[in-house]
Amino acid sequence: MCDLKTNRRMFLGTMGAASALMGSEAVLGSLLRDKPEKLAIDGGKPVRDSSLGSGPYGTQFYDEVEEQELLDVLRSRSPFRHEEGKVVQFERAYAEHLGARFALGVTSGTTALYAAMAALEVGPGDEVILPAWNWYADYDAIVLSGALPVFAEIDDSFCIDPDDIERHITPHTKVIIAAHLEGCPCDMDAILDIARRHKLRVLEDCAQCAGGKYKGKYVGTLGDIGINSFQLSKTITAGEGGAVVTNDPVLYERAFRFHDVGIIGRSYNESVGHGVLAGFASCNFRMNEFTGAVLCGQLRKLETICSALRTNAKKVRAGIADLPKLKLRKSGDIEGDLGMRVFLDMGNGERRDHFLRAVRAEGISANGPGGSAILPIDDRVANKRTVHPEWPSFNTPQGKAIQFGPECCPRTIDILSRHGGVIIGPQYTEQDVQDVIAAIRKVYLAMHEA
Ligand SMILES: Cc1ncc(COP(=O)(O)O)c(C=O)c1O
Repeated sequence: MCDLKTNRRMFLGTMGAASALMGSEAVLGSLLRDKPEKLAIDGGKPVRDSSLGSGPYGTQFYDEVEEQELLDVLRSRSPFRHEEGKVVQFERAYAEHLGARFALGVTSGTTALYAAMAALEVGPGDEVILPAWNWYADYDAIVLSGALPVFAEIDDSFCIDPDDIERHITPHTKVIIAAHLEGCPCDMDAILDIARRHKLRVLEDCAQCAGGKYKGKYVGTLGDIGINSFQLSKTITAGEGGAVVTNDPVLYERAFRFHDVGIIGRSYNESVGHGVLAGFASCNFRMNEFTGAVLCGQLRKLETICSALRTNAKKVRAGIADLPKLKLRKSGDIEGDLGMRVFLDMGNGERRDHFLRAVRAEGISANGPGGSAILPIDDRVANKRTVHPEWPSFNTPQGKAIQFGPECCPRTIDILSRHGGVIIGPQYTEQDVQDVIAAIRKVYLAMHEA
């Protein structure tokens, strides 16, 4: 702690030097702002009297646009996917928005993953590399395809660490899952380079990053195939729903057939021409027209939501940038990052937990990384439990040999335990943003005094 105190003195010293450049009132205000105040958690006055948080983003923007879209479907009495319907409209608009050739609406992000696995012909004997911190659906889609999931560590962006991917590549590896988690784009240049060198496919999971960009391109359009989710907690939502995105007509045809009992319809023929594949054993993951209608409305708000989140997160980052020894979550591309939260690396789990408790006591919503699980330590993963004892995933020599549990992802566990973040809302007012900044500064500086 001693050197943290020194650091704070140095910081205040710098502020003093800055007074020559700034008006003295501004400097005084700045110093007062940073004067250690009694934290709310210790009985001091909180930054806010009422708690500031943000619910699901998309529903905050529901209005007469979604209402009208839904009424159209109700009045048409035609809620099943059809050629002139809302789902097809949404698919076309979504593909155009992203700059992709094809988008396919499905029932959820999970079923989008199953369709993507089928499109990539992932099956028994194949290995798929995914980040150890990820949603269950990615792991389940691999296992339910009969393939073997292989975990790589995350880095300080909470996304898959490209440096750890190569270590796990074997002659059986077929796909890398690049999951853009909690609004943060992965380091796609590095991942695509590895994939090219090893002739692997890249599946981008954009469920937690709809509207996110990497170097100016929408996530989901950089790899071979992308998936999205429109479940309640995602950038835009219809409660449930998902999409598969690709530029590759064969992958699109396979995904399309898989989502609709092996067949392709007129909208498919119109956008691609006649299929080149025969049908194969498939599913029904068709999106219904009510979902398509809500998503047609929500899509028009996607950029508003993303830009509000980004602007607010940017202000918070700027408002705390001068804090001593500040270490923020890394991002594959901070400009394209959605800014759903601003995470600080607090050094260890104990300090992180104290930081979060103290920030929450100031009336600001804050927590550790969320929306995913440390999969290798999850009971059903660690014990390789499947629907049938002879399931192919874990019956190959590699499947039998692979070990999950905490030993396969120590760095992931450490990174996640150190980071705590404040929630950013797309509807935050300027005062809300300033309160978030004030709470972080107050707690962070007090912790550096301690
Ligand atoms: C990274 C990721 N992938 C896939 C999914 C699955 O999406 P859904 O809930 O729509 O099935 C989720 C859902 O939270 C997710 O976070």
